[in-house]
Amino acid sequence: MSTATAEAPFWMTGNFGPVEETIDAVNLKVTGEIPRELNGRYFRNGPNPNKNTSADWFLGEGMIHGVEIQNGKANWYRNRYVETPLLDVDVITNENRMVPGNSLANTHIVGHAGKVLALQETQVPIEMTKDLETVGPYSFDGKLNGAMTAHPKICPITGEMLFFGYGIMPPFLTYYRAAPSGELVQTEIIDVPAATMVHDFAITENHVLFLDLPMLWDIKKFGKPGIPVSYDESYGARIGVMPRNGKSGDVKWFEVDPCYIYHTMSAFERGSSIVFHAPKLTGYTSVGMTNPPIPKLHRWTLDLKNGSVKEEQVDDLGVDFPVISPDLVGLAHNYAYAAEFDPTGVPYILGYHKYDIETGSRTCHKLQNGRTGSEASFVPAANGKDQDDGYLMTFVYDPDEKASELVIMNAKEMTDEPLARIHLPARVPTGFHGSWIPDMN
Ligand SMILES: [Fe+2]
Repeated sequence: MSTATAEAPFWMTGNFGPVEETIDAVNLKVTGEIPRELNGRYFRNGPNPNKNTSADWFLGEGMIHGVEIQNGKANWYRNRYVETPLLDVDVITNENRMVPGNSLANTHIVGHAGKVLALQETQVPIEMTKDLETVGPYSFDGKLNGAMTAHPKICPITGEMLFFGYGIMPPFLTYYRAAPSGELVQTEIIDVPAATMVHDFAITENHVLFLDLPMLWDIKKFGKPGIPVSYDESYGARIGVMPRNGKSGDVKWFEVDPCYIYHTMSAFERGSSIVFHAPKLTGYTSVGMTNPPIPKLHRWTLDLKNGSVKEEQVDDLGVDFPVISPDLVGLAHNYAYAAEFDPTGVPYILGYHKYDIETGSRTCHKLQNGRTGSEASFVPAANGKDQDDGYLMTFVYDPDEKASELVIMNAKEMTDEPLARIHLPARVPTGFHGSWIPDMN
């Protein structure tokens, strides 16, 4: 595997580097057995710099890699760019990617209300078909006037999709709630002091959690390469808790130690408190920094009655891309999963850990022989009895084969061999986030 050099940063080398072809392959070879209850498509988004250059890992044009599975067979693999105006631009700058509609569309792909949406946090979603053709910008019938996070949350009880968007100009933070039908039914501007880079949030059964952390948009850095943000601890850091149908004035803000959090693992209610888990970055002073720290799993207990905050480190392993069962989003749960990152800070994924979140103990599925992974999605078993009855699904790159596999693991018995390895005819670059979208959605 090639490594980063002064000429070629890590995101242009090894399995981070872009693929040059779009491929259609059918009737894929499988080692093992695909559970017959899995019927749908696994889609995963990530940057694939179109002009073979990119100023940051976060700034390549989005490409979706998809595999369709039905009745124990892998019908097809294909990869497609999300077709946005930026694909025709020679040099992507901070100016042209802020033009409405110019989405990199490279961060996540989610299904809700029958729509498949490619997401990138500074723009409106881009709708895709289930065959990965681009439909175009999707604004919830014109009701979404600004950006949408790449990390919406779908409530397993109500079927609503809850999300937020941030702005570099006011309003800096806006909360949205979409009904199970997809109709946008709530829009609330949330008062925060400044424009910060808010990558994710969390929900509980009755509340939403906003992260107001000191990664501030920095107008002085526009016109330069890279993400124009600056980390400034003097801004402070706080977590806001608001009833799901509340307003800005209902937010209870909890001051926390300054840090950065890309991804939330989960949040749930316990008595008068909110229990919130996330991999936390300390010493992360800029996006794109050399030798960045690796996040470590932390727990914050926020007491809504007395306003107190208790923060604990749950584990000292470097992990990110946390995931729980979609059936338990916002609800009390015992198990969660996260990807182990290469300790060098180059974000190769070396394995997957199943956490008991109370004790911090974990079981590991370590990738072997130089194989590296991507974020894993949890797919609940159809008739599961336990919270961990289900599957972990992810793309794994094999450097010997110079190709990738869609790997399906038993999420309960992590140490087992994968249940199925679906062999792809090409490599899938290490990317960002993906979703299993069952046929019925
Ligand atoms: Fe993310």
